[in-house]
Amino acid sequence: MTHENLKQDLRLFAGRVDKYLADALCPDGRIPRQVWEAMEYSTMGGGKRIRPYLTMKFAAMLGGSEEIALPFGAALEMVHTYSLIHDDLPCMDDDDYRRGKPTCHKMYGEANAVLAGDGLLTLAFGVLADAPATPEQIVRATRLLSHAAGCNGMIGGQVLDLLAENTTVSRETLCRIHDGKTCALMRAAAGLGCIAAGVFEGEAWDAAMTYATEVGMAFQIVDDLLDVYGTDAIGKPVGSDSRNGKTTYLTFMTADEARAEASVRTQKAIQALGGMDADGCLAALAEMLLGRTK
Ligand code: IPE
Ligand code: IPE
Ligand code: MG
Ligand code: MG
Ligand code: MG
Repeated sequence: MTHENLKQDLRLFAGRVDKYLADALCPDGRIPRQVWEAMEYSTMGGGKRIRPYLTMKFAAMLGGSEEIALPFGAALEMVHTYSLIHDDLPCMDDDDYRRGKPTCHKMYGEANAVLAGDGLLTLAFGVLADAPATPEQIVRATRLLSHAAGCNGMIGGQVLDLLAENTTVSRETLCRIHDGKTCALMRAAAGLGCIAAGVFEGEAWDAAMTYATEVGMAFQIVDDLLDVYGTDAIGKPVGSDSRNGKTTYLTFMTADEARAEASVRTQKAIQALGGMDADGCLAALAEMLLGRTK
């Protein structure tokens, strides 16, 4: 798949995800309005929708229906958005911009931002429960998302990330941080796609996990690079990591070495899928994420 075709495909799928999320977040007179507004504000507009795209593409690759993959991917995007709202809070990374606009707490205050994050996390599991899938698929999806977002996954990575501020940790610990805070939700994205297609284990499952882990690691390395070398196009503040004394890939290596490491990870991701990725879409996506500027 060419870069242009992939961009078009991403736009098409992001449109479907946006519509699904907008419907799921419609306040329709529900009280209190503030928290729905804050949830909608952070969720709509600006997100690249990479994770739901992965869910829908893995599902399609394995013969699953989009009817199931779309709510699964949207639920994951809600969890991802909640993680960003909380990540930006003054008690965490203390950032004022996200997805090209003021962060949730800047708009709605800290308490509402905490609650909007909680609201999105909670709603995500309701969305999974309501998906037009079999009970087994729903239970497996719920377990996977819960584990990926929880203390052995994203939350665990975030805790280690904060503990590592202004200290020197080993490169091995940094890999554990990145694996938790970023790769875990990428694995959930791929895994939810597999589950949507009725694939729960085996070769395809293992390949999906390796792809997602390697893409996730490359993604976070590029994120670390963009924090130093990015422009306003990234839609969040440049220099946040050094302001917070974060340990990143650039603590251990030069920018060129970090780019090389991200490139190796990307190739490993592509190799893991091999012939499964018949139209080359997931390979093209991994390459695109490596070269991204936002
Ligand atoms: C940002 O993720 C958080 C990281 C794991 C680096 P994205 O770069 O996918 O953020 P959005 O969803 O496009 O805003
Ligand atoms: C956080 O990583 C990833 C999450 C789980 C939210 P970062 O703190 O580097 O993400 P950005 O750079 O603020 O998007
Ligand atoms: Mg952070
Ligand atoms: Mg941050
Ligand atoms: Mg970052």
